[in-house]
Amino acid sequence: MKPLFAGNWKMNGLKGSLAEVDRLAELFGGRAPEGRDVVICPPATLVAATAARAATYGFLVGGQDCHAAPAGAHTGDVSAEMLKDAGAAYVIVGHSERRQAHGETDVVVRAKAEAALRAGLTPIICVGETAAERKAGDAEAVVCVQLKASLPETKAELVIAYEPVWAIGSGLTPTADDIADMHAFVRWFAGNARILYGGSVKPANARETLGVPNVNGALVGGASLKALEFHAIISAV
Ligand code: PGA
Repeated sequence: MKPLFAGNWKMNGLKGSLAEVDRLAELFGGRAPEGRDVVICPPATLVAATAARAATYGFLVGGQDCHAAPAGAHTGDVSAEMLKDAGAAYVIVGHSERRQAHGETDVVVRAKAEAALRAGLTPIICVGETAAERKAGDAEAVVCVQLKASLPETKAELVIAYEPVWAIGSGLTPTADDIADMHAFVRWFAGNARILYGGSVKPANARETLGVPNVNGALVGGASLKALEFHAIISAV
């Protein structure tokens, strides 16, 4: 399975950040690496410019969220069709920061994933348990509920990202055994879809994490903002 590396810039980056895309390409000798998909997910304001720049190098671009409707009276929102029009090929849906800060339920996440497929984008659907849920021994049960309710019926073209909420931006990561157990569990639902691990992926832990069975790439937040670090992570496989 071709590994996929998605860099989630979150609400970071102004026009000057496009230089990081150039730097990333330079580190790879001017072209995106063979045998790996590299998807840069900048804030919505930069999707079009990043897509134009990324296309010259062979990188792909994704949105960080989309509305479920194709168009309409939804002030402040961006539709999957608009992201596609701006040059995106992917879109992250159901990130825990959206689930928590914007009250997105599994039903909403599924509608967004279906919207992405409708628009011709590949959704990267995020799931993951909180620290309290893991402590209580409920991690698999929580992820099971999320997967059952947030995956669209058509699994044709989608990506699932397992991101334990407590590992995001914290520097904490599950053990390789815990990642292996969860990814084996997610595989039951994923079919042939790629399953990414996300949460504090850094150059120092990338090789071990990416070597875990059923880990088909990474969703990288903080480390994707620095070309040097993102390059090291992508190069770890
Ligand atoms: P992080 O974020 O790599 O900074 O932990 C991952 C994510 O939220 O997708």
